[in-house]
Amino acid sequence: MNNFKPNIVIFRCNWCSPAGAERAMASKFKDNFYPRMIKTTCTGRIDPTFVFDAFARGADGVLVAGCAPGDCHYVSGNYKAGRNVMLLKKTLSQLGIEPERLRAEWLATSEAPKFLSSLNEFVDEVITLGPLTLN
Ligand code: FES
Repeated sequence: MNNFKPNIVIFRCNWCSPAGAERAMASKFKDNFYPRMIKTTCTGRIDPTFVFDAFARGADGVLVAGCAPGDCHYVSGNYKAGRNVMLLKKTLSQLGIEPERLRAEWLATSEAPKFLSSLNEFVDEVITLGPLTLN
């Protein structure tokens, strides 16, 4: 049995990520495992260096959660974030870090179950990858 409890960092948009997601997470994740959630005004404000910094500080996986396409309060922040995530995945791969350790999810406020389902799936994937070791 795998007892690895990954360090997961979630950068989430303050506007659109599902209401109640944090409460649902609190009841879902126990045993001293709780993803660290960092709210942003928009995923477009997530500087790519934040993601590298999260990995450098011990994250095993990083999830970016933002507004569904067309719903960004700042019009195109989520599109910018989506492009950044694609580029970051390529860069992570070049650095020898599995790109699967970074994921983006685009959600409506009413999609707390989808958020939790995506988070569970992501956590399982990171557990399968194992702890991130940086050289
Ligand atoms: Fe939510 Fe831009 S306001 S992603």
